[in-house]
Amino acid sequence: MASAARSASRVFLRSTPATSSFRPAARSTRFAIPQSLRASARRGYSSEAGSEKSSSSSTGIWAFGIAALGAGGAYFYLNGASPKGPFVPTQADYQKVYDAIALRLQNETDYDDGSYGPVLVRLAWHASGTYDKETGTGGSNGSTMRFAPESDHGANAGLKHARDFLEPIKAQFPWITYSDLWTLAGACSIQELGGPTIPWRPGREDKDVAACTPDGRLPDAAQGHRHIRDVFGRMGFDDREMVALIGAHALGRAHSDRSGFDGPWDFSPTVFSNDFFKLLVEEKWNQKKWNGPTQFTDKTTSTLMMLPTDIALIKDKAFKQHVDRYAKDSDVFFKEFSDVFVKLIELGVPFQVKPEDRFVFKASE
Ligand code: HEM
Repeated sequence: MASAARSASRVFLRSTPATSSFRPAARSTRFAIPQSLRASARRGYSSEAGSEKSSSSSTGIWAFGIAALGAGGAYFYLNGASPKGPFVPTQADYQKVYDAIALRLQNETDYDDGSYGPVLVRLAWHASGTYDKETGTGGSNGSTMRFAPESDHGANAGLKHARDFLEPIKAQFPWITYSDLWTLAGACSIQELGGPTIPWRPGREDKDVAACTPDGRLPDAAQGHRHIRDVFGRMGFDDREMVALIGAHALGRAHSDRSGFDGPWDFSPTVFSNDFFKLLVEEKWNQKKWNGPTQFTDKTTSTLMMLPTDIALIKDKAFKQHVDRYAKDSDVFFKEFSDVFVKLIELGVPFQVKPEDRFVFKASE
């Protein structure tokens, strides 16, 4: 909750809109900065969008002269073995990585609505959401998004910001694999943005470019309920889990220079909450009239947005019953989201650490 609380001190006043999900400004951060200022702040980042191709991460691990040996997390220095033998990171070492990410989140606020947290959550999800349960390919084990062609897949546009954000952390803790780092950063961001605890375990290994997954495994926001079930069914999720996962859209925003869609889902895009579900059921959503892909906008303020796949969650009866449950009860959403996010970031990973020994990281104060 720490960075969310801290960001709240940068609050800008705005009037409180009509529905109960339109929260007072105390929960939002830089979202209330005048549009003109935000647009210019964001322009600085969008100019980098064309440089997605080269991933600085691809060679990084070798630059430190370190090889990860075995799935158990034992690391040996190539140039001169450590006199004490292999370095085997403990939970305390991973907590240090967590703390470094949390600190960087607190310091690097000149981005989007004031936090890199949402895009880090998206990185963890896109690294994991390529999993195919039939072939056992894809998933977070490999971090193959470091390489083209996967880094260039349309669905991954913009995620270079997240990967680059984590480079200094990787440099500080060269023993952690990118695959572990990206998922840990997702778990850290959810906790730091006020979300549920995300128990996490290490054991992912980085793979090379040959393990890149084919394009088309991640969902297409322009589609409907069948597509959602196809894509998430391929990963092994049921209806309830699909709805819970998509509730992560309480965080962050769409960018017209990345996906083509534009805008945030709620008024507190840097605070993890059940607002996405509350707004889905309490607001009236009209098709946005604009020169862009079909998306929906709220009747009350015309400043929020929903994707066609988000609207499919209230059009489909089986999905809708979970939307209603989560809109009514934030605790239920937090609990079920935590369980399913843990499942997502663990798909296809041959862990040596048992599920009951997952680490629970302490959030920053
Ligand atoms: C049907 C499934 C989904 C579709 C079609 C979808 C689509 C999208 C799109 C189009 C964006 C905007 C990207 C941009 O322009 O920057 C986005 C953002 C985001 N998505 Fe999803 N998504 C889905 C599921 C999920 C899931 C399962 C998670 C996490 C568990 C998630 C987390 C996020 C987050 C946090 C953002 C904000 C990123 C930012 O602020 O940069 N999404 N999603």
